[in-house]
Amino acid sequence: MSLQLGRTEFGNKANQGNVFTQEEAMQLFNDWVLNPKLKLHMKQVAHMMRCWSAEKELQDEAGQWKWEMAGLLHDADWDQWPEQHCKKIIEHLEEKNIDPEIIRAIASHGPIHFGVLPETSMDKMLFAFDELSGLIHAYSLMRPGGYEGMDVKGVKKRLKDKAFAANVSREDIDDACTRANISLEELIEFIITRQGVVTL
Ligand SMILES: [Fe+2]
Repeated sequence: MSLQLGRTEFGNKANQGNVFTQEEAMQLFNDWVLNPKLKLHMKQVAHMMRCWSAEKELQDEAGQWKWEMAGLLHDADWDQWPEQHCKKIIEHLEEKNIDPEIIRAIASHGPIHFGVLPETSMDKMLFAFDELSGLIHAYSLMRPGGYEGMDVKGVKKRLKDKAFAANVSREDIDDACTRANISLEELIEFIITRQGVVTL
């Protein structure tokens, strides 16, 4: 099954600034995603996208929501239409005339799978948060204190253990850090100090 998108242009520049309201985004999120684990993952990534855009990119509220929306909807079609993963949500957002930056970020969140390279900082951070977020969450579930007291060293140990969260691509994580020009340690630290506050 190929998920290659076969194109690298997304949305329409004329739609710049067009976003869903929070209610519209949550409606789509709740209608399309039924699996609570996936919902939590998408919310975690959305939260980190908002935090990063505010703290590191100094985005205003409108900019922060764009980053958050990309995180919130990036896996929207994975639950019910895995064979159309990425294509379905992208085409839906294009039909709804959503800002092309958001669509592009979603299209490039799995460069190997979808054939689209992350270019903007929004693209790169969505790719970076996506894989590592899942591994860190899995680690939190096996720790008595969850995220409490988790440190970078512990996460790096899990990364080295190939049997742990084996479906998480270590290569993608390294690739994402290189593309985003951040260290693995910085990315881990950012995630462990923010992801734990997110609940369904
Ligand atoms: Fe994801």
